[in-house]
Amino acid sequence: MAGRGTDEIPAIALEDVDLNDHSRFAGRVPHEMFAVLRREDPVHWQDEPDGRGYWAVTRHPDVIAVAKDWRTFSSERGGTSLQDLEPEEIEARKSMIDMDPPPHNKLRAIVNRDFTPRAVAVFEERIRSTFDGILDDALEKGEIDFVAEVAAELPMRVFAEMLGAPAADHRYLVELGDRLLGQDDPEYAIDPEVEAANRHLPFSNPAAADMFEYGRKLADERRRCPREDIVTKLVEAEIDGCPLSQRDVDVYFLLLAVAGNETTRHSISHGLLALIEYPDQFERLRHNASLAGTAADEILRWATPVHHFRRTATCDTELGGSAIKEDDKVTNWFISGNFDEAIFEDPYRFDVGREPNPHVTFGPGGPHFCTGAHLARLEVRIVFEEIVKRVGSFELTGEPERLQSNFFNGIKRMPVRLTAA
Ligand code: HEM
Repeated sequence: MAGRGTDEIPAIALEDVDLNDHSRFAGRVPHEMFAVLRREDPVHWQDEPDGRGYWAVTRHPDVIAVAKDWRTFSSERGGTSLQDLEPEEIEARKSMIDMDPPPHNKLRAIVNRDFTPRAVAVFEERIRSTFDGILDDALEKGEIDFVAEVAAELPMRVFAEMLGAPAADHRYLVELGDRLLGQDDPEYAIDPEVEAANRHLPFSNPAAADMFEYGRKLADERRRCPREDIVTKLVEAEIDGCPLSQRDVDVYFLLLAVAGNETTRHSISHGLLALIEYPDQFERLRHNASLAGTAADEILRWATPVHHFRRTATCDTELGGSAIKEDDKVTNWFISGNFDEAIFEDPYRFDVGREPNPHVTFGPGGPHFCTGAHLARLEVRIVFEEIVKRVGSFELTGEPERLQSNFFNGIKRMPVRLTAA
């Protein structure tokens, strides 16, 4: 969930805010930092011990403004990672998420049509039967790690099928994703020397090279033997009459393979945790099937798996009363926007019937709005429709273990006991 015990957000002083400290994100989302920022310093300068510092944008309307105004807040100039990289490092590792229009749009168009509401609706019954199988196994066991055995399974199985990756490789792809996206956490941390030597790779992480290698094998197979899948689309795509380079295929494959799995997984885990902690909402959903859609959106708001993304100012500008200089790093905090009390009534209340719910979990609009948003929302809806239908009770049998990261709101393990309805 967004934070256990969020009913009571402690008040802290502005001087006590430190967004760099991953340990502040260990027990729960430190909503108190975002609350004081929204109230007192909505576009806040945050120093960095190992970087040149950045602006933190925390109010919902400003988060939207930054995402939409890509000419002023560029993804291309410095990439979307907080690291201060050399131009050649950015060039070597960037995927479309680190690019501005128009080149960005041309790349995005390669897969866009596979993720429209109509295109993903075709998968609904398959997703449901896949999830039913996962739930059968979980119910049979009775005690499980919900993250590994349920939440991680569905997104990977669904997306691997769309990508064209064989079922036997699902776990390997999950493991690579964990290494790439979890590296702020001591469990997945990489040696600083290794990081320094891999700055030309996404996340400066050698696991990216393993993901490239995996993608290349799949791409070679599809060149020889095309199929109806996304890897075939990548190898057959042309932009302005030229095929994608090997580098473009590598980073595209990696972006798709990691973007859709960990995020959806953590949404499902946070959703279950929220329903365990708010049993009245579990019962409400169980007795009102028509709330499935609003519940999915509330779970996505509550979870906000991606806390922030970075942009770089292309000129001197002003936002929320702060003077931003050309080339300054600007971070857009979706987690803060999603709990902005000026937009969401009683934001720390988990409410499966919340409407309206203009959450920015998939990004706040603009060119980089999440490609997989409709697919992810569909998966989350189906998961909880099936859970409230088929599971009578859930209880935690141990403390959920959270990822220690200011970037990613993740749950690593969550032991639960479940019984059939
Ligand atoms: C709950 C699940 C998900 C969450 C929370 C999430 C979140 C996000 C966010 C915050 C962004 C950046 C938006 C911005 O900067 O404005 C993004 C972009 C992206 N997401 Fe997702 N995502 C999820 C699921 C997926 C899935 C299932 C896919 C599968 C295709 C996917 C693929 C992408 C891609 C390719 C981008 C880059 C888009 C671009 O640069 O144009 N995501 N996502």
